[in-house]
Amino acid sequence: MKNIVVFFFLFSAAFAGNFNQNFDITWGDGRAKILNNGQLLTLSLDKTSGSGFKSKNKYLFGKIDMQLKLVPGNSAGTVTAYYLSSSGSSHDEIDFEFLGNLSGDPYILHTNVFTEGKGNREEQFYLWFDPTKDFHTYSVLWNPISIIFSVDGTPIRQFKNLESKGVPYPKSQPMWIFSSLWDADDWATRGGLVKTDWSQAPFTASYKNFNAQACTISQGSSSDACSKNSSGHSWLTESLDSSGQERIKWVQKNYMIYSYCTDNKRFPQGFPPECTIP
Ligand SMILES: *[C@@H]1O[C@H](CO)[C@@H](O)[C@H](O)[C@H]1NC(C)=O
Ligand SMILES: *[C@@H]1O[C@H](CO)[C@@H](O)[C@H](O)[C@H]1NC(C)=O
Repeated sequence: MKNIVVFFFLFSAAFAGNFNQNFDITWGDGRAKILNNGQLLTLSLDKTSGSGFKSKNKYLFGKIDMQLKLVPGNSAGTVTAYYLSSSGSSHDEIDFEFLGNLSGDPYILHTNVFTEGKGNREEQFYLWFDPTKDFHTYSVLWNPISIIFSVDGTPIRQFKNLESKGVPYPKSQPMWIFSSLWDADDWATRGGLVKTDWSQAPFTASYKNFNAQACTISQGSSSDACSKNSSGHSWLTESLDSSGQERIKWVQKNYMIYSYCTDNKRFPQGFPPECTIP
């Protein structure tokens, strides 16, 4: 009896975040690999090509966690992108992009939010740990109230639903989860000053423990599927409490290196409304 219980526990735990079940490798000609019975995924980049994957399902709202271990050593010039995006010219998108660096120099975590095809909402951070030594959890909570980016459970950025103030908010276009590792040495590291050192290739980033509490839209069904499932999904109504707000302030004070909301040069006519509405 005991053995049977243990067996079922292991089986369902393994089932939860299986890459074979949840993702398709979309490009890279063998450079992306799903390993360990679907428990681990690796992307790699060499001079010929990068690689990438995409979720099988699309999601309309969700609390989505992924653990990433970024390219170690000299990763200058490389970008590991992990993002949610819908399709089409007026698409919505929620981005994490990790900009590599020389050994010992800090990665930049670059974030952006696109609504109806328009981004230009960059915010950049250093991390408070070395993201290449271990796996860390990068999460997006996307619900009708706000989009919250978190790192190891610490919120770093919030994009509120300010539709009532005329700011478009992603709420009707389902998004897929994407990730890719590619070469962007024309801009990624110190604004393009440091180039990719191909003698270090292949560059590899690893993924594990994908977990989505989400409204899953499968082929052919409409966005209604979300509201039908909304009861009992506490993440759908979760927002930042006062301790979350304190933690965002801590990150912004100590680790934020760029915000479009303080870039006067870029917005001589005044900042976008979401920057000024409290
Ligand atoms: C790389 O390191 C340099 C020097 O510390 C730093 O200025 C830069 O912000 C770091 N990150 C990137 C992606 O350029
Ligand atoms: C809604 O929840 C039920 C029960 O948890 C599940 O079987 C179903 O797949 C869910 N539907 C969607 C669209 O996620």
